[in-house]
Amino acid sequence: MSDKISPLGHKGLMLEEPLLFEQSQQGRSGVDLPETTQTKLRTGQPQRTEIGLPEVSEPQVVRHFVRLSQMNYSIDGGMFPLGSCTMKHNPRLNEKVVRLDGFAQLHPLQPQSTIQGALETIHQLENWLAELCGMPAITLNPAAGAHGELTGMMSIRKALQDKGEIRKIVLVSDNAHGTNPATASTCGYKIISVPSGSDGLVDLTAFNELVDKYGSEIAAFMFTNPNTCGRFEKDIKHIADKLHSVGAYFYCDGANFNAIVGKVKLGELGVDVMQFNLHKTFSTPHGGGGPGCGPVAVSKELEKYLPVPRVRHSNGVYSLEIENADTIGRIKAFHGHFGMMVRALAYMMSHGADGLRKVAEDAVLNANYILHHLKDDFHVPYKGICMHECLLTDKGLKEDGITTLDIAKGLIEYGFHPMTVYFPLVVSGAMLIEPTETESRESLDGFIKTMKHLAKQAKSKQKEHLKEMPLSTPRRRIDEVKAARQPILRYMK
Ligand SMILES: Cc1ncc(COP(=O)(O)O)c(C=O)c1O
Repeated sequence: MSDKISPLGHKGLMLEEPLLFEQSQQGRSGVDLPETTQTKLRTGQPQRTEIGLPEVSEPQVVRHFVRLSQMNYSIDGGMFPLGSCTMKHNPRLNEKVVRLDGFAQLHPLQPQSTIQGALETIHQLENWLAELCGMPAITLNPAAGAHGELTGMMSIRKALQDKGEIRKIVLVSDNAHGTNPATASTCGYKIISVPSGSDGLVDLTAFNELVDKYGSEIAAFMFTNPNTCGRFEKDIKHIADKLHSVGAYFYCDGANFNAIVGKVKLGELGVDVMQFNLHKTFSTPHGGGGPGCGPVAVSKELEKYLPVPRVRHSNGVYSLEIENADTIGRIKAFHGHFGMMVRALAYMMSHGADGLRKVAEDAVLNANYILHHLKDDFHVPYKGICMHECLLTDKGLKEDGITTLDIAKGLIEYGFHPMTVYFPLVVSGAMLIEPTETESRESLDGFIKTMKHLAKQAKSKQKEHLKEMPLSTPRRRIDEVKAARQPILRYMK
């Protein structure tokens, strides 16, 4: 590694772009419409003249939106090491496949005899996922990871109702993703938090005590594995047995599956329900909260509660099962987001089973490469190797006035998207870094070098300079609290 810091990311935020409203000029238009003297529309209503649309030409509009798109930092433009969000490269092959007419031109109301290929695609993806997680039944209907969690917990709730059991508590580990307690609460359960220990893993003593204390009141335990501290919860088998001994279900948030694909089958370790996030493991695009796909895998016992429609296959014919007495019902229009399913299957088939295992290995290797190189520059809260994301903190810098936020802002100055900051909540000043498997050695080295440079600045006279970063973006440091608490969401002239 040479000492020179050359940004490998991009500085898209360099652009300054006024709103279209601010570019408006009276009489300017994108289309030539014939002059009209009519003041009333066909409905008999007068024309609305004063709705205040900007008056701009077509080239202005095109340039405006292209410039906005260039302001957006993206995984296609540079390294995007957001921990927990897993900004995975979206292979172009997926996009090519999903644009084939046979997939792209389908209508969800077409007769089933004309969509056999699409149903086969769904069925195949279900089979791949079932094989990878070691669980018998899958639904692809949920539109996101959190939606999958909701679907899974609704299935557990229905199973308990059918058994006539009133259980009001869901245990959730404090190192689980925030959507886990939110989901349990949405399903009407009282949350009891299970602490994690100094190793970043579920504190087994505390867990055992809670299960002994609340026993048959517990509906389920929810945790995330690998967890949000980037660790693998190794005591999973014990946890499963303990829960099952009191008749409770075991929900595992499998959003971080990218680290263990082809390595661990969570179903074989006693998990009753898990969800995948196709964008975090199987390279589908992030969609700003959707449209995505958060498949859910369940045990044989819970299969009958899965949402409809379900794809069935018999005598060489695929069909959709819509009616089912036990199902929790529909949780999404039609079959869910089919385009995501096609992309994920294309990714799986192009990698093959060996390739997927290699992806997991490379994701873990890349995170550990970063951890190894930064462990002397930043505080590492949990010793030992990490999974697909590595965790650092600002301990040691904070005492000198430099915080995690300053390091994140410094990364922007050098052309990198910052890592995830202040998450997981159980770790003070957390910096969660997830490079993913596709970052090259050079880009990892570029990131490491920049982080080392920032750590050095933090301990030098240039500290004040760092506190001012980013310096070269049109927006410097904004008042984030004000932006969150008092957002201005409406444009006023
Ligand atoms: C561990 C974990 N669980 C759940 C979720 C929620 O998934 P989604 O954003 O698709 O709803 C995420 C999001 O990235 C996650 O990282």
